[in-house]
Amino acid sequence: MSGRVLVVDDEKNIRATIEMIHRNAGWETRSAAGVDDALALLQDERFDVVYMDLAMPGRDGIDGLRSIKERYPDQNVVILTGQGSIERAVEALKLGAFDFLEKDCGKEKILVTSRNALERRALAEENRILRKKISGRREFLGKSGGVASILEQIGRVAPTNARVLIMGESGTGKELIAQAIHDRSPRKERPFVKVNCAAIPEELIEAELFGSEKGAYTGAVEPRKGKFEAADGGTLFLDEVGDMSLRVQTKVLRALQEGEIERVGSNKTLRVDVRVIAATNKDIAKEVAAGRMREDLYYRLNVVPIVAPPLRDRREDISLLAESFVNEFCEEYGIPRKTLDWSVVECLARYPWPGNVRELRNQIERAVIMSREKMVCVQDLSAEVREGRPVVAAHEGDHHGALSAAPAVKPGPEVRDLPPVIAQVPVMAPGPAGAPALPGEVLPLHEARRRFEREMIREALERNSWNVSRAAEELGLERTNLHKKLRVYGLAKGDKE
Ligand SMILES: Nc1ncnc2c1ncn2[C@@H]1O[C@H](COP(=O)(O)OP(=O)(O)OP(=O)(O)O)[C@@H](O)[C@H]1O
Ligand SMILES: [Mg+2]
Repeated sequence: MSGRVLVVDDEKNIRATIEMIHRNAGWETRSAAGVDDALALLQDERFDVVYMDLAMPGRDGIDGLRSIKERYPDQNVVILTGQGSIERAVEALKLGAFDFLEKDCGKEKILVTSRNALERRALAEENRILRKKISGRREFLGKSGGVASILEQIGRVAPTNARVLIMGESGTGKELIAQAIHDRSPRKERPFVKVNCAAIPEELIEAELFGSEKGAYTGAVEPRKGKFEAADGGTLFLDEVGDMSLRVQTKVLRALQEGEIERVGSNKTLRVDVRVIAATNKDIAKEVAAGRMREDLYYRLNVVPIVAPPLRDRREDISLLAESFVNEFCEEYGIPRKTLDWSVVECLARYPWPGNVRELRNQIERAVIMSREKMVCVQDLSAEVREGRPVVAAHEGDHHGALSAAPAVKPGPEVRDLPPVIAQVPVMAPGPAGAPALPGEVLPLHEARRRFEREMIREALERNSWNVSRAAEELGLERTNLHKKLRVYGLAKGDKE
């Protein structure tokens, strides 16, 4: 097991020795002669462990440890001490150092410490991913009046058993609201079961909702519980409820009225105790008027209506959401925290967001992946957002006309060390989360280069049957460096673009 180590010491010999010990064990190493250089390296690279000398001229090891922990709380730092500095070493441990070692403790001890640090990092990572999977939950964020009112309604309705109908355009957070109601309700220890009525074919939805007996239809080899049963004691979230057929609506209505269901292919009645929360992005009153939605079902579902406003009507939430998504994705991709340049915030604030918070979230994910610097810049945004011109038309009734007339933000000057040929590269495959470039679109150099690089790497891997070592050799890159780029570009075997 080997990883990456950074050695910080003002003495060249010590740096060389510790680097060599690690290199001989297969580790990749970097070194810095002082705290400031170390911090600069940490901004761009990830290390499994940092060795830091305690006594250095200028900023000492304790000072360095403090700065590192402030910025990267999870970074493993081992403090190197001369003899007789136990008291300060104890102080270092209190400040969150992983361990401390005397400089002459011997090669084995150093390697064991590094391996432990690596293991801890792997465990912490695994833990984080698991926690995220288990909870998979996000807060409903925002500081606008609209969001405050939603939070207040969630708080009021959650403790009751009242049915809730959540309405709003796509991507406004309807599912998040439903989940928040469940999480704050007395049913929170019981299941939250989601059914997307639009995604299930008409002939299957009945069995999906109510379950089926063996032989009820072709392929029903086992009796199956439906979502109503699965949600017993908890909450059933009927998403896109406006898309259910009238026949299914009639059955749902009965389940709501009587609290009883029958599995498909059975006439045995089952009692269920389910709280129903429904959501739709359709104008449901219109659906009723057009006869596509049963009026009685509409009234049953719509005991408490909650309307999620579109993002363009609560622009004061944009920067808060964007910052929170930046942090989320930096954590997810395991990269140091990035910040948003003010011009990015301006650009985001101007865009009409037809896809609402979902679109903003996707945009930020892409920008975090695209950005090379610690700062996310305007160039990292997609062309639509930079120019304030969405590809998808905004929804009816919005009032962003004046906004789209605002001057498009010009990408800042950015001429880097690139041979001119790259700037002429035709539009390549889009970045992992990038919107496809439009024909004839002129890409900023920065973006063209990233796409070019990604494509080159993908092709090299393809040629070498995804053997990373061989592809790295062909590209003239270190293997670890190529691994890093694969992570950054989200490339994985099987990608065909
Ligand atoms: N207020 C918010 N705070 C944080 N994240 C949000 C907020 N609103 C929406 N999101 C995020 O935006 C994405 C879309 O939200 P969600 O799936 O709840 O939207 P929806 O209204 O159900 O959309 P659709 O109608 O397309 O199903 C999710 O990733 C969600 O976490
Ligand atoms: Mg939804």
